[in-house]
Amino acid sequence: ERANMALVFERYKDRLATLPKEKGWITENLYLYQGFWHQSSRRISVETLMALQDTFKAHPTDIYLATLPKSGTTWLKALVFALVNRNLFKDNCLSTHPLLVSNPHNCLPFIETEIFRDTPTYTDPHSLRLFATHIPYTSLPQSILDSGCRIVYLCRNPKDVLVSMFHFANRLRDKLLGPLTFEETFTSFSKGVMPTGPYWDHVKGYHKVSLEQPENVLFLTYEDMKIHTASNVKRLAKFLGFPFSEDEEAEGAIQRIIRICSFENLSEANKHGNFREDIPNDAFFREGKVGDWTNHLTDEMSSILDEITKEKFHDLHISF
Ligand code: A3P
Repeated sequence: ERANMALVFERYKDRLATLPKEKGWITENLYLYQGFWHQSSRRISVETLMALQDTFKAHPTDIYLATLPKSGTTWLKALVFALVNRNLFKDNCLSTHPLLVSNPHNCLPFIETEIFRDTPTYTDPHSLRLFATHIPYTSLPQSILDSGCRIVYLCRNPKDVLVSMFHFANRLRDKLLGPLTFEETFTSFSKGVMPTGPYWDHVKGYHKVSLEQPENVLFLTYEDMKIHTASNVKRLAKFLGFPFSEDEEAEGAIQRIIRICSFENLSEANKHGNFREDIPNDAFFREGKVGDWTNHLTDEMSSILDEITKEKFHDLHISF
């Protein structure tokens, strides 16, 4: 895998050198490509995106879960994995369910990381492929756009994304780069500079297409998922072509999935160990709450972000 990554980084190094850059969050720099900021020399990076755009082949039956980092990707991965595979693990007792013995990121891969694998996750050409991605809609590989496959987008309020990303970046940052202050992350975020940001453009890209093609793109928010989890899981299942039967509903299948994927269960299962050599499993689980931004943002910061959001989302009806 490392050799494949090195080849990709080498192939796109000249293009990388032409891109505008800014100070990064987790990595040293972020690069502006097709209107969005991306890391470099990582599994999820601008080079990977270029390689995917050149080579990735979608299947019409694929399902993609699209998010900005820290919007609830891990939770959405778990919910979709659990509901699509609910018959495979039906009789297992809870403690042996794959989501409770492995990180959700191992159960449902990012397309960004798939490209480096010697053996792809899905080798059976007829198997349903579940993927996640942080790629902005307008940069998705053309074959995904052409395939007519289904995409679920999960959006989270910008202030909680900023706070969550601030903590995540400081945990994962190369120690040599020194810690980030909250003030500087706030300034970068406000300027749109975060991995796969600007936040607002990422959300708007998927929101627009969810209105134009509601049969292909489902738009959800983290906040609504927290309040109305069951109805959203039901909606997700229907959209993905795995609706719950009346019998299943009656015997509590939806509640079972919600329980498996609860913050408490998943964070307990991911207390130890590493997801990859550089990311501890527990880095994906912090508070899992709505509104932790009130503990970090000053009133002034909050109103600056409110203003930007109001201006950028003026014709969108997203309630957080
Ligand atoms: P906080 O840092 O605010 O706690 P991502 O998965 O996109 O990286 O997002 C991580 C955020 O989702 C973190 O937010 C994390 O705590 C929260 N999260 C992880 N698992 C969750 C779950 N099962 N339910 C709700 N939130 C969850």
